[in-house]
Amino acid sequence: MNEKILVGVAWPYANSHLHLGQFAGAYLPPDIFARYHRLRGNDVLMVSGSDTHGTPITITAEQEGISPEEVIERYHNSFLESFVQLGISFDLFTHTNTENHWTITTDMFTRLLEKGYVFTQSMRALYCLIDRRFLPDRYVEGTCPFCGYGDARGDQCDRCGKPLDVLELIEPRCKFCGHQPEVRETEHFFLDLPQFTEPLKKWLADKTYWRPNVLNFTLNLLNEGLRPRAITRDIDWGIPVPVSGYSDKRIYVWFDAVIGYLSAAIEWARNRGMPEAWHEWWDADAPCRMYNFIGKDNIFFHTLIWPAMLMGYGGLQLPYDVPANEYLTLEGQKFSSSRRWAVWIPDYLSRHDPAPLRYYLTIQAPESSDADFSWQEFVDRNNNELVGTWGNLAHRMLTFAFRNFDGVVPAPGELLDIDLDILQKVEAAFEPIGERLNACQFRAALGDVMAVAREANRYLDAAAPWKTLKSDRQRSATATYVALRVIDSLKILFAPFLPFSSQRLHEYLGYESDILGTQEVCEYQENSHKHRALTYRYDWEGDLWVPSQLPAGQRLRRPEPLFKKLDDSVVADELARLGR
Ligand code: MF3
Ligand code: ZN
Repeated sequence: MNEKILVGVAWPYANSHLHLGQFAGAYLPPDIFARYHRLRGNDVLMVSGSDTHGTPITITAEQEGISPEEVIERYHNSFLESFVQLGISFDLFTHTNTENHWTITTDMFTRLLEKGYVFTQSMRALYCLIDRRFLPDRYVEGTCPFCGYGDARGDQCDRCGKPLDVLELIEPRCKFCGHQPEVRETEHFFLDLPQFTEPLKKWLADKTYWRPNVLNFTLNLLNEGLRPRAITRDIDWGIPVPVSGYSDKRIYVWFDAVIGYLSAAIEWARNRGMPEAWHEWWDADAPCRMYNFIGKDNIFFHTLIWPAMLMGYGGLQLPYDVPANEYLTLEGQKFSSSRRWAVWIPDYLSRHDPAPLRYYLTIQAPESSDADFSWQEFVDRNNNELVGTWGNLAHRMLTFAFRNFDGVVPAPGELLDIDLDILQKVEAAFEPIGERLNACQFRAALGDVMAVAREANRYLDAAAPWKTLKSDRQRSATATYVALRVIDSLKILFAPFLPFSSQRLHEYLGYESDILGTQEVCEYQENSHKHRALTYRYDWEGDLWVPSQLPAGQRLRRPEPLFKKLDDSVVADELARLGR
């Protein structure tokens, strides 16, 4: 039976372009996962969108002297373009500034309030006398009370990753004027997290399959004791508080952003003309697995706050797994937009192809520990592995077959032991690699696929059909057939990681069908707004995660190389762009 898989992907703030670190941490892994499950014939719903609220947006708008709407439009469009070019197959990538999202957020807020999981309380907050305003967390910087990091933000410390209460910051400074703000009383709504301590413990008890770093981080926070969290802010940008008397406050961005996983599924179902279809993924008793792909700075919100909100609301799925990644560093240093130490996806795409990036960021993924992106290694791994081991193998064999066997897959004669051996090895690879992908071990899975490609190269060196072409044409035809069949299988094994090249290979091998799916930026009316979103269609029903059954006689198409070798000058050029 088809499984239902809900893939929720972290909603990027629409206040800057995406950089390689975010892409490696949160966007590439879910695409690999989603593509794998679609190949298996499972029903995948992968959703996300631009996070359009909160102070990251207003800070950028203020810094650039433009409106928040302009900031959002610019970067939302940038995301849509980056995802299309990199092949990140969102069934829907929307944003949070839609009436649908506002309605659902309001509904959840109201329900949690009615059920007694949200209460109001006066709290102390920082107020800047110079700017005459309350300072939301991100408008305050100071020293982290846990690790001593001097530039901690008011909401969390980027060094030790702990969530912070802004009042705990040592020597707080206003981000605008640099002065020390004063403490004032203000009334806010709080999510009563302590009420969920026991249910959360129970829910986490069987999550032994989670990545250890995610589980340990979560259990530590739980054991240290949860405190109520303010879910409103003294700002004027965001979703209004649906209670009278609070018109000068807005719902906290993190409260609404996570609700996007639900609202986007509802929007997707409406777009498809099946407005109730989202229930098949979201209802508590639906046989569905829900995954949230995020970077490690988002763990707290996805493993404690969001599950608590869902429990409080009732009737909905809870996450099955939260495969958060560690950080990617760039040439040994942390990504930093302010120090301009980053590689932005649009810049990358203006100079290079998607394939080497997808390859390198997976084979070197920050899954269980931080990982480094280095341009030298990027070039080396592209040339030696992607091109050297896989691209050349496919291109060499396809060209040989196309030229020497009248452009069709030759009919094999009797299979020898070496032929049977390689076919058997490839066949045996599908299940274990599939299991790794299902367990979100993408780095190891790709390593295993490459190992199969290396076996295939060894086979080809031994069987050498070009040597027997003149002396024993039947033997040459058999080895060519076997090699093409191995390549046809590798095409599927590589497809989750390198979808574009697998689709091209699929066509060179003479198939007509589409294994890539179609991505489209659509513009539609969302109540009173014009709305731009990314959608995806994939129409295969059956299980394609099976070894090749390439039919002899199938007409091939003229092959082109799958990947490009990169010149070593790329390294110096890219380092110079970084100012090195
Ligand atoms: N916008 C947040 C960030 O970039 C992530 C939000 S993820 C969500 O850190 F789950 F809240 F949507
Ligand atoms: Zn100030």
